[in-house]
Amino acid sequence: MKATILFPGDYFSLNEPNDNFTQELDAVIATDGLEAALFNYDEFIEGERLVLNKTVDHLPALLIYRGWMMKPEQYQRFYDKLVELGFDPLVSPLCYEKMHCFPNAAEMFDDQTPAFMVFPEVDGKVHIDAEIVNEKFHRFMVKDYVKSVKNTDFPVYIETPVTQEELDSYIEDFIHRRGTLFTGGIVLKEFVDLKKYEGTTNEWRHFAFIRGARFGLNRNSCQPRTAPKPPDSFVSSRNTISVPFYTVDYAELADGTWTVIEAGDGQVSGLAESDDPLRFYEEMARCLARFDE
Ligand SMILES: Nc1ncnc2c1ncn2[C@@H]1O[C@H](COP(=O)(O)OP(=O)(O)O)[C@@H](O)[C@H]1O
Ligand SMILES: [Mg+2]
Repeated sequence: MKATILFPGDYFSLNEPNDNFTQELDAVIATDGLEAALFNYDEFIEGERLVLNKTVDHLPALLIYRGWMMKPEQYQRFYDKLVELGFDPLVSPLCYEKMHCFPNAAEMFDDQTPAFMVFPEVDGKVHIDAEIVNEKFHRFMVKDYVKSVKNTDFPVYIETPVTQEELDSYIEDFIHRRGTLFTGGIVLKEFVDLKKYEGTTNEWRHFAFIRGARFGLNRNSCQPRTAPKPPDSFVSSRNTISVPFYTVDYAELADGTWTVIEAGDGQVSGLAESDDPLRFYEEMARCLARFDE
């Protein structure tokens, strides 16, 4: 089976990829069985028509997106427009939302992820009772349904107890920082001790593809090559789920056991820091070719 890989185009020229995806686009072009196409990401997200640089007649109908994150409602519209154009997108809006939004994905982790609590946005606001938070957590980190605000001066974790006033101000600040990208509501997570090698955590990103095919378990925290990978049994315990393309991030805990850090839709998760785009797309093409056998 062949597939079209659709990337965001450059803001000014639909025939050029957005700079962030140049390497991946080149890898797709170099891979037999995959065809690359571009679309007007920025304009589309702003509500304009979906425009591709090629027509479906010149492309495989099966379509896999690789690009910036979309909110679930944006992905729904994207999917509908692709179907209207005659494509057959691999990932349905339901599967996208399942893996993109942590509270949905977490259902498959049971107790294999740190303790967390979910607080949905209601009428543009998220109310969290400080008392409940103080009871539940020793230290917690703040995320929305999709991302943290890591690499900013927002605290990496907050120790309990917190007063209601302090908590309200953290949450307000977090929502403000996420801006238009804020998605779903707030997730608070117990901040756990991660194992370090030469001062670096040991995190791995796993991409899973149709029918649980693995096509990449790669170092993702610049850890030394000697740091161990998560055990097979821990990684494969999730392979049965019916989502066609997703990621799971693993981290080693200080005591040498493993935990799930987060999950994501495979289309909008970046390649692991140690991965190679050509390897990634050749593996994808190999997985797709198996359906022809
Ligand atoms: N529960 C946790 N306890 C301790 N550290 C964590 C925890 N969850 C995430 N981290 C650390 O914070 C980083 C960012 O968290 P992550 O959930 O991956 O957010 P993002 O979506 O912004 O990448 C991770 O790469 C990991 O190093
Ligand atoms: Mg992450």
